[in-house]
This record gives sequence, structure tokens and C-alpha cells, in this order.
Amino acid sequence: MIDANNLIVGDAVEILNSWNEACVDLTVTSPPYDNLRNYKGYSFDAELMLSAIHRVTKKGGVCVWVVGEKINGGRSLSSFDHAFIGRDCGFTVHDVMIYQKKNTPFQRSNAYTNCYELMIVFSKGKPKTFNPLKEPTKRHGWETAVSNKGPDAVNRKRPVELKKEKTKNNIWQYAVGYGGTTTDKIAFQHPAVFPEKLAADHILSWTNPGDIVLDPMCGSGTTCKMAHKNNRKWIGIDISKEYIEIAKNRMAKASNLTV
Ligand SMILES: C[S@@+](CC[C@H](N)C(=O)[O-])C[C@H]1O[C@@H](n2cnc3c(N)ncnc32)[C@H](O)[C@@H]1O
Repeated sequence: MIDANNLIVGDAVEILNSWNEACVDLTVTSPPYDNLRNYKGYSFDAELMLSAIHRVTKKGGVCVWVVGEKINGGRSLSSFDHAFIGRDCGFTVHDVMIYQKKNTPFQRSNAYTNCYELMIVFSKGKPKTFNPLKEPTKRHGWETAVSNKGPDAVNRKRPVELKKEKTKNNIWQYAVGYGGTTTDKIAFQHPAVFPEKLAADHILSWTNPGDIVLDPMCGSGTTCKMAHKNNRKWIGIDISKEYIEIAKNRMAKASNLTV
């Protein structure tokens, strides 16, 4: 059974495997990868985690898996591995999106500066919800268009109204660090917070109000905070009690709730 609007300390694989099947609409999460950060020394198995998430995802539900990789000599390609592992666990790789970081402090001397991570959008069958985010078009208003030539070979001019907005493409750009990722100072006690707007953009895209949003490796609680702000139900799990305390603090501030 799931207890919505809750933060839980524990191994997400064990906890998810104790839930009923097909009870989650959306997961937005970011796993540890390549031992890049020391998350209190906990080990991580992508296959066990993705298959546990797949089991609890509703038909048509989505799991957004935000993952980078280690660059040390060459690239580890572990983000690509995760895409294949998710597919082997039964997910469709609905999209592979790019999370582009506007400010990237780490330069490479012999390659271009890496400025992105992948956002692998797994779905359990065809996504049941898609509310496309829009952006303004560069050219809009009325323009004179020339219609195709007919058999008489005459160009006919006519006024057409160009669309004011279009669906965004799949490269999303966010500023990172204080003010970009979040303005919650306490969040930075966690070593790898992702931007609040990234979580919110996926929540708005793949769910409707009242749906259940999960982050099984919630760290500082970014996904839960954004789900709450957007009127979704939420559940956060992290193996570290210390990180769950940070998440509780952020949730309390965001909602005047005691979680
Ligand atoms: C990349 S961080 C997530 C950060 C989060 N997106 C945020 O904005 O704060 C990955 C998290 O996974 C947690 N973790 C690792 N293995 C886990 C497991 N088996 N179950 C639950 N959490 C786990 C770590 O403690 C760490 O906080």
C-alpha cells in the first residue's frame, strides 16, 4: 500500500517491491552513477531499481530518469547503459531528452565543455498523459504568404497568421547552482540536486492534478516539492536519513506542512 504525501527512509527497491503493482503515474528521479558522488557509501543497482519502478508504474505511466556519466579519460557511457537496462526491464524508451546546463564550470583541456545530462523518458506502453509545454515562436503575427503555383503558374499572395507558440523541443536548458537549481539553501547540503524547474516541467508534461508522483531516490526532495506545488500527490524515498531530513525541511517550508 502506498501512503501518499510522505517521505520514507529506506532502500527504495525493497520498499517499492512491497507495494501493490501499478499505483504510480509518474516517477522523476536521478540515480547515483559511476560512483561520482559519495552518497554516504550506499551501493546502487540500476536493474533492480528500474524493474521495481516498472512494477509500480501504471499502464501508460512514465519514468523520467535523469542521468549523467563520468568523464575520466573517456566517457563511461553509463547513461546509455541505463537506457538499455530500462528497456530490458519492460519500459519503452519513449524519448531521450537533454538537460542542458546553462552554466558549466568544468572545462576539459582536450574536448569541448560537457554541458548536459540525459533525461531518459521511459513509458509503460503508450503514455496516457501528455500536456506539451509551449514556447513563443520567433516570428508571429500576420505575414503575406505566396501560395503554390497552380496550373496557370500564377503566384497568389494571401495574408496568413503565424502561430504565437509552438511545442518545445526536447533539449531543455536550466541554470544550475543557487538561484537556478533552487533558492532553498539547505538543499545544497545534498551533493547532487537537480533544478526545481526540471522536475516541475516533467510533472506538468506527464501528469494531471491529483496524480501520484514518485521519486524513489529523492535526495533533497526536489521532485516532491514540485509535485506538491503543482497539486499532485507525491512520495519520496531515500536510503539516507540525513537526506530525508533535508527533504522534510524543504517540504515544510514549501507547504507549511509537518511531514
Ligand atoms: C542523484 S541523488 C538524487 C538527488 C535529487 N534528485 C535532488 O534533487 O536532491 C541520488 C540519491 O539516491 C539515493 N539512493 C541511492 N541508493 C538508493 C536506494 N537503494 N534507495 C533509495 N535511495 C537511494 C542517494 O542517497 C542519493 O540521495
